[in-house]
Amino acid sequence: MPPRLGNRVGRVPGHHEVAPNFDVMGGYGPERRWAPYKRELFSKMGDGRILFLAVGTGLDIPFFPSGKSLVGIDISDKMLEGAQRRVDAYDGEIETRVMDVHEMPFEDGSFDQVFTSCTFCSVPAPVKGLEQLRRVLKPGGELHMFEHTGSRYYPFRLMMNLMTPLTSRFGPEMNRDTVSNVGAAGFTLREVKHVYLDVVKTIHATRYRERFR
Ligand SMILES: C[S@@+](CC[C@H](N)C(=O)[O-])C[C@H]1O[C@@H](n2cnc3c(N)ncnc32)[C@H](O)[C@@H]1O
Repeated sequence: MPPRLGNRVGRVPGHHEVAPNFDVMGGYGPERRWAPYKRELFSKMGDGRILFLAVGTGLDIPFFPSGKSLVGIDISDKMLEGAQRRVDAYDGEIETRVMDVHEMPFEDGSFDQVFTSCTFCSVPAPVKGLEQLRRVLKPGGELHMFEHTGSRYYPFRLMMNLMTPLTSRFGPEMNRDTVSNVGAAGFTLREVKHVYLDVVKTIHATRYRERFR
């Protein structure tokens, strides 16, 4: 069982309710399709201290390079329970903790890298969540994301705007502008790579090295 933090903080998203069926919903189609891109994203894991946000049921874990040492957080204890067998099977160390990205108890500048996938469509206050990730990164530290976002192009933009009021009832908002949100949270954008249209993408950003502190 993953360690618990006591009170569950923040709004637990719809994913919590679907945790027992999450592998069936997300695991067999989309996960296979995105596998090469996720493997490439996680291959950027270095040797420093790594925060992995939104463990879910651990579908990302098989893509991690072996031998890393990570702290993996998720707001949903049910999701983390579902992840436990993948955490145990990982050839490295993953300490899991139930935690809301908006209220992380970590010290400022305590991680070298943050990785996350398919998260910022459902985090309730995305810029605040990203600001917290920036806070816990060391100056010069890296953020690596795999996300689906809204699209700039018609008719996708229209479809996503129409779908969002419905999808947000059980979890994700389809029309988030996550790239802009990363910039608004104070990160320096390094690279945005489109994986599918301009909807599914990887984002690499860094915490600027402040000269005057
Ligand atoms: C779509 S799932 C993605 C899980 C996994 N990364 C994957 O790709 O299979 C989104 C995850 O984000 C978690 N989550 C949503 N809001 C969160 C928050 N505020 N803090 C931490 N985790 C959150 C959910 O509980 C869920 O497990």
